[in-house]
Amino acid sequence: MRKWIHIPHIEGQASRQAHADLPPGTVERELGKEGFFGPATHMIHPRPPTGWTSWEGPLRPRAFDCMKLVTDGSSPWNATKLLHNAHCRFRFWACAASMDHLVRNADGDELLFIHAGKGDLFCDYGHVAIEAGDYIVLPRGTMWRLDVVEPMQLLLIEATNGSYQLPDKGLVGDHAIFDPAMLDLPRLDEAFKAQTDQLEWPVVIKRRNQLSTVTYPYNPLDAIGWHGSLHPVRINVRDIRPLVSHRYHLPPSAHTTFVANRFVVCTFVPRPFETDPGAIKVPFFHNNDDYDEVIFYHAGDFFSRDNIHPGMCTLHPCGFTHGPHPKALGKMLVQSKAATEEYAVMIDARDALEIDDAVAAVEWADYHRSWQQA
Ligand SMILES: [Fe+2]
Repeated sequence: MRKWIHIPHIEGQASRQAHADLPPGTVERELGKEGFFGPATHMIHPRPPTGWTSWEGPLRPRAFDCMKLVTDGSSPWNATKLLHNAHCRFRFWACAASMDHLVRNADGDELLFIHAGKGDLFCDYGHVAIEAGDYIVLPRGTMWRLDVVEPMQLLLIEATNGSYQLPDKGLVGDHAIFDPAMLDLPRLDEAFKAQTDQLEWPVVIKRRNQLSTVTYPYNPLDAIGWHGSLHPVRINVRDIRPLVSHRYHLPPSAHTTFVANRFVVCTFVPRPFETDPGAIKVPFFHNNDDYDEVIFYHAGDFFSRDNIHPGMCTLHPCGFTHGPHPKALGKMLVQSKAATEEYAVMIDARDALEIDDAVAAVEWADYHRSWQQA
C-alpha cells in the first residue's frame, strides 16, 4: 500500500476553490502530478509565469507546421515521423492518391485522425466512408487500405505494443461525451463486395518498424462474414459533446477520448465559455509535470493561442510552465464570445517524446518567444 503525501494547505493569498475567485489582478499556476489526477497546488502570481526573456539548452516548447511537410502519398509507411517514444509514434501523412497495396501494423493499434479530405477505408472487417474530423481506431494487425475521394491529410498515432480503450467516464456515465452507440463499424456492404478481385495484392506489414511484403494472387480483403467484439471503430469530432461547467474551467483531462498504454488522446471541440464572474475562462497556467503534451490544431480559432493555424502542431515537454498567450490572457475573466470554436487533438504522453529529424524543416524556431508581449 502507498499513499500520496497530500495535505491541503492554504498559504498567503489564495482562493479556496481552484480556477475561480482569484485575488484581483493575479494569475494562477497549477503544479500537478499524474496529468490533472494527482495532487496539485495552485500557485498565485502577480504576473504570467511565462515571462521568460531567454532560453538555453535542449528543453523548450516547440511548434511545427505540418502543412509545409512534403510526403509521398502512396503509403502510410511513408508518412512523416514527427514524435515518438517507446509507447507512441505520431506521424503526419498526406495521402493524395488511393493506395495500391494493403498494409498491416503489427507493432500496435493505429489511430487515424483525418485532418482533411475524404475517402473510403477498406479493411478485414468491411468498408466505412471517412471524412475530415474522423477518428478511426484500427486494432493491431488489421489489414487495410484507403481509397481517396478528395486528397487526404491524416495523423497516424500508433499505440506501440498497446491498445486503444475508452476512458472511464466515472461520475457522468458511459453515455456522456459520446455514446458508445455513436461509434460506427465497417460493414460488409456493396462497396466492400465490389472491391474483391482476383488481381495480385501486396500486403506491406510493419513489425519492429521494419517492412515486409506478403503478396497474394487475389485481394485478401474477402471476408463474407464475422462475429466478435474486436473491430475498428469510427467517430467524428462533431459527434463529441464536451463536458463543461459554467462555474469551473475543466482541465484538459475532461476531454479524454481514447486511452492507451502511458498516453491519452483528448479532443477539444467547440464549447461555451464559463459564465460565472469569478471563473477563469481560458486554460490556467500549468506545469503538467509528469507528461509531455502535444496538440494538433485541426480547425477553427484557437482561443488560447496566438499565431497558431490549422495544421500546426505544438509540443510542450514537461519541465516548464505554459498557458495562454498574451492576447488570450486578456480574456481570462472577460470573454467577448460565448463559445470556443476550436477543434484540436491532444496527446499527453507519460514518457518523454523524441522529436524526429524531418520536422526541423517546418519548425517555428521562435515559438518559445511567442508568450512575450508584442
Ligand atoms: Fe498543457
